[in-house]
Amino acid sequence: MTDLNTLEAEVLAQVAAAGDLQALDAVRVAAVGKTGSISGLLKTLGAMSPDERKERGAAINALRDRVQSAITEKKAALEAAELDARLSRETLDLTLPGPYRRKGSVHPTMQVMDEMVSIFADMGFAVAEGPDIEDDFHNFTALNFPEKHPAREMHDTFFFEPKETGERMLLRTHTSPVQVRTMVSQKPPIRIIAPGRTYRCDSDATHTPMFHQVEGLVIDKGIHMGHLKWTLETFIARFFETDAVTTQFRPHHFPFTEPSAEMDVQCDRSGGEIKIGQGTSWLEILGCGMVHPNVLRACGIDPDEYQGFAFGMGVDRLGMLKYGMPDLRDMFASDSRWLAHYGFSGFAAPNAASGLS
Ligand code: PHE
Repeated sequence: MTDLNTLEAEVLAQVAAAGDLQALDAVRVAAVGKTGSISGLLKTLGAMSPDERKERGAAINALRDRVQSAITEKKAALEAAELDARLSRETLDLTLPGPYRRKGSVHPTMQVMDEMVSIFADMGFAVAEGPDIEDDFHNFTALNFPEKHPAREMHDTFFFEPKETGERMLLRTHTSPVQVRTMVSQKPPIRIIAPGRTYRCDSDATHTPMFHQVEGLVIDKGIHMGHLKWTLETFIARFFETDAVTTQFRPHHFPFTEPSAEMDVQCDRSGGEIKIGQGTSWLEILGCGMVHPNVLRACGIDPDEYQGFAFGMGVDRLGMLKYGMPDLRDMFASDSRWLAHYGFSGFAAPNAASGLS
């Protein structure tokens, strides 16, 4: 049996010496492969006597098992070493700076929204919210849009496919449905603003299919147009941080206010930039008026006891005017160069005490 001991020592030494999986596999094939040294020994059993064969066969099988398990063990060790080597080779230092870093910034619309909220909060307005996906009742019917009236088309509404009941949901065309939701759920006196996204199928330099409005609503006893005008003029002076802004009220029509008006800001649009306080152009920035008695009634408020005013202003447009952006569509083009130029620091939260911008 010394030949078996010698062979075993030889093969085990080769297994131990194998430096990688490929070398180990060569050792395996040479020992226990079909034509390997140990497999070759098994083939010699046929020529032996039964007693001899029994003894020798058991010894060879035991030798083969020991070699096989030595190979399995070595294989696991080589694989683990290879994995370790790969893990350390592929290590990434996540703390290293990238090749180019652009700082994040606050989008001008969000900055303007924060500025508006801070001004109105200072005047005693609370912030109210409503859903972007509205029903016909809140967006139109309760706001005194007559059923099937073309005024509903005036808003270039995005409608959803009708439900089984025939009801058509829509993307709200203005923040005015939040007026309805507030009046239905709260008792007067009411003084709220409702900032949010609004949607209309429209696109040019001063229109985008998604835009932002801030709605305002005041309901109390004895409210009149004078309160509305003072509130908006005070807001505009504070927002532009100057009294040198010229505004004009134009008579207008909204089904949900009577009387109604639009307010424009004087600006100069020559030379590819937009400047306020000068020029011969007017940019419409809001709609407003005294809440229509039908709207108060639809919301369960007695118009003989309470009156109110409401306004809805375009946030993005006010941002264009204040920060001199010529085209509204750029605001939502996700161009990081534009954002780097017009964006604001996230640490400079606007408030009445430390300033707006
Ligand atoms: N909802 C109107 C619009 O989007 C604006 C508005 C709000 C007008 C409140 C009057 C009162 O055009």
